[in-house]
Amino acid sequence: MSVTTEAPARLRSRKWFDPDDLWGMAHRSYLRAEGFTRQVFYGKPVIGICNSWSEMTTCNAHLRQVAEAVKRGVWSAGGFPLEFPTISLGEVLMKPTAMLYRNLMAMDVEECIRAYPMDAVVLLCGCDKTTPAQIMGAASVDVPAIVVPGGPMLRGTWRGELLGSGTDPRRLWNDKRAGALSDEAWCEVEGSISRSPGHCMVMGTASTMTSMAEALGMTLTGSANIPAADSRRLAIAEESGRRAVEMAKEELRPSRVLTREAFENAIRADMAIGGSTNAIIHLVAIAGRVGIPLPLELFDEISRTTPFIANIKPSGAYLMEDMYYAGGLPAVMKELTPLLHQNALTVTGKTMGENVASAECFNRDVIKPLAQPLHPQGGTVILRGNLAPHGAVIKQTAASPHLQKHKGRAVVFENYADLTARVDDPRLDVDESCILVLKSAGPKGAPGMPEWGDMPIPAKLLKAGVRDIIRISDARMSGTAYGTVVLHVSPESAAGGPLAVVRDGDEIELDVAERRLEALVSDAELKKRLSQWRSPAPHFTRGYGRMFLEHILQAHEGCDFDFLRAGA
Ligand code: FES
Repeated sequence: MSVTTEAPARLRSRKWFDPDDLWGMAHRSYLRAEGFTRQVFYGKPVIGICNSWSEMTTCNAHLRQVAEAVKRGVWSAGGFPLEFPTISLGEVLMKPTAMLYRNLMAMDVEECIRAYPMDAVVLLCGCDKTTPAQIMGAASVDVPAIVVPGGPMLRGTWRGELLGSGTDPRRLWNDKRAGALSDEAWCEVEGSISRSPGHCMVMGTASTMTSMAEALGMTLTGSANIPAADSRRLAIAEESGRRAVEMAKEELRPSRVLTREAFENAIRADMAIGGSTNAIIHLVAIAGRVGIPLPLELFDEISRTTPFIANIKPSGAYLMEDMYYAGGLPAVMKELTPLLHQNALTVTGKTMGENVASAECFNRDVIKPLAQPLHPQGGTVILRGNLAPHGAVIKQTAASPHLQKHKGRAVVFENYADLTARVDDPRLDVDESCILVLKSAGPKGAPGMPEWGDMPIPAKLLKAGVRDIIRISDARMSGTAYGTVVLHVSPESAAGGPLAVVRDGDEIELDVAERRLEALVSDAELKKRLSQWRSPAPHFTRGYGRMFLEHILQAHEGCDFDFLRAGA
């Protein structure tokens, strides 16, 4: 038989399906085993649908439905869709932390795209790490790729109060620990807060990273913030499927979209929306895949010149559903237009400036004008000092103003087990002026750099009405969390960073405006302590964990594996 094709000769899938030989026949024959006739696939652009669906990743549990919408779009544009799974990373259920597996997922995504016959790929993501992992993998293999986020949940509601994922449970848990919330009320909150499909609906890491995907130019315009339960989520998935077919023919690869200008646009957007501190690690890692260095100074420089304008929890008052109704990320980008690289190419085939030219804001209380921001600078800033020679991070918009310039006595926990064992002990020598320090919580130390950075406030302080205290660690923090929390201290303690030798009673000084984090300990004393420090025994001696420990980079380098960066 002969089925003719007008598909571009350069489609990579033709290497699988065109040859008139034994293997060409086998490739066609095994697709026909799924019941496809030659007419529906032969000579058509093959569009992979990389699905991070999993019932373990509850935020992505609706992505099978989203994949069906993508398929409609692919079929309607004359392409041939094939859905495939990868490992999926569920932030809440996966232990010790999904971050331990981000690079594993990125490798899975990269190798599947490389190994299978696809001319373009649609990346279905949602929960925190699934978005950066998919973009990292797709960037490394450089096949045309478009991101379709699963979207945030609807707002949580409880007794007439709107509740935001993670953020409000943390607040209410403190109330419960302080004896101000009943068991019955707490149980009601559990059943009221996560009431639809989708990912966390504050400006946590999932909302931030899907917004970053859009700001990088990797999604259709307006795709990031549509709630998962809104019919427009499926409509934009269908449109993305259609666009993927065009991208395959245009050979619009990630390397043409993920440029220096695109990353600077994304950092600008991150600062304007008060994005999760995790975005810094993930953006550095994605950029590393395409050979673009993003030093922490660049984040700080952009933060100083970007007003914070998105009034979304945990730094603001509203939720992602409100953000979408107010115009979503396109309205933010439109507001930022004078500060953007407007000519950055996006997967729409147009520039970022063209994409958002007609965007409007429909609620000025949710998305503020650039001239009347919630804060004159961006959400996140970079700290330096003898405690963090390679940098540390604080989300200034979610920190208490009275603690942003402060000296206090260190109360040190050697690791997470030590923290959980002692933090609520009435004998703990701590008051509200103290600074909690947690060690062994970084990429190698924990390992996997879990979100332990927003350490619990000691129970005796909670009962006295204290709701914030300075906390410092080499851990990360959930994007849903808040407080005066210094994170990502680099080098981490388990790699011999100065954090490793901080002792109870040392005085520490934090000055956010001056970007300083210092232990008020002499250089000679620090040097002496470091000379006596011994590295801990490895947590893993086999398997993926061993590979992780041998190749993981530090937080300021994006926590990618050294051998996965461009040029490695
Ligand atoms: Fe998946 Fe928060 S747990 S986004």
